[in-house]
Amino acid sequence: MRRADHHPSRRAFLGAGATALAAGLTAGCEPGSTQPGRDGTEATTPVSPTGPHQAGITLPHEAQPNLLVVVGDVDDGAAVGPLLAELGEAIRTLTAGTDTRLLGLPPGDLTVTIGVGPRLVRMVDPSLPGTTDLPQFSREQIDPRARGGDLLMQLCAGDAVVLSVVAAALLNQAGDRVRERWRQSGRRGPATPVNPGLTAPRNVLGFIDGIVGPHTTAQQERDLWLTGPTPVTGGTIAVLRRMELDLPRFAALPAAAQEAVFGRRRDTGTPLSGGTIASDPDLGAKTPDGRYLIPADAHLRRAHSAVVGVGLMLRRSYGIDDPAPGLLFISFQNDIRTFTNTLTRMDNGDALLPFTTTTASANFLVLPGFDEQRPLGATLFG
Ligand code: HEM
Repeated sequence: MRRADHHPSRRAFLGAGATALAAGLTAGCEPGSTQPGRDGTEATTPVSPTGPHQAGITLPHEAQPNLLVVVGDVDDGAAVGPLLAELGEAIRTLTAGTDTRLLGLPPGDLTVTIGVGPRLVRMVDPSLPGTTDLPQFSREQIDPRARGGDLLMQLCAGDAVVLSVVAAALLNQAGDRVRERWRQSGRRGPATPVNPGLTAPRNVLGFIDGIVGPHTTAQQERDLWLTGPTPVTGGTIAVLRRMELDLPRFAALPAAAQEAVFGRRRDTGTPLSGGTIASDPDLGAKTPDGRYLIPADAHLRRAHSAVVGVGLMLRRSYGIDDPAPGLLFISFQNDIRTFTNTLTRMDNGDALLPFTTTTASANFLVLPGFDEQRPLGATLFG
């Protein structure tokens, strides 16, 4: 178990001055940013699909407002290597806007992120990261079709219409080699500034969501990207959980009780121990009569990486409205235990959990980045 004082860069991120922080944050605002178009409307900048890592995780720096996730199973007889290489090639032409299957729609800041499920990774090498299925947790009501899966396609864009068209093109490319299992659309609200170079949207419970995470290059190298073995280097582990939320019951709470659930102020995102939105929470701070300012069952405390003893996860969740209001929780981390240990600790007394019912769950090895010379999936299935 890592201890709190083993997280110097997290402390540094949350407590650092603006200049040092801005210098440490990963390149932002260029790819995927919005710029005034020639007609005065906002135009989005393309995000390159190629590089050491796939797009759609840390790039664009501010996640696009619309998401469509499609999870499928790969047919037993299908050759996985050629399938992934074809999908990668289709992603290149679709994001470049040169693919006739776009029907003339501009892809804008479209990103497509591809992952493979534990069954496929085990077929390559059972000792690789990404071979473990998630265990069951409390408050799950998951149809067998919405648990697990062999193939993740995470599509994000400023234009929601583009997502349906691109998903259809990719599924068509896969043909009868892939059977769709479940899909989910999601939306993110307007961004709230957290720190120079970092914003986060409000979630469907009204709270700013996505403040804490591996936001600097050093933190991403330590906690986000897989650094080996070679076939997975540059990849990461994705966890998806569709969590329906009891909005009426949460909304019926007084604002102070809602804030106690999270351990942060609803309007500003400031920890209940004080400071600013970017301040490191003081988990030991107490009222004069000895009560924790951040309650013992607050989500912030239960999920705090140093308390759990894990690295940071990059949370990139989207609000959902169908089949019911809630959240498509998406996290990226280089160790599945970052997620499982955190949720286990939440299961044992997080005030947020009674408002949730999880109705879909899956985890994937997000493939390393690709380019023209190195087809998608080649390091694993080549
Ligand atoms: C409906 C479900 C959930 C909602 C609405 C939610 C919302 C939030 C909010 C508002 C914050 C505080 C602001 C921030 O740091 O972004 C937060 C923090 C966090 N959440 Fe969640 N969350 C949910 C589920 C989960 C799950 C399933 C996990 C992982 C198992 C998780 C892990 C975390 C972590 C690691 C933090 C940062 C804690 C810290 O160090 O301060 N959350 N979440």
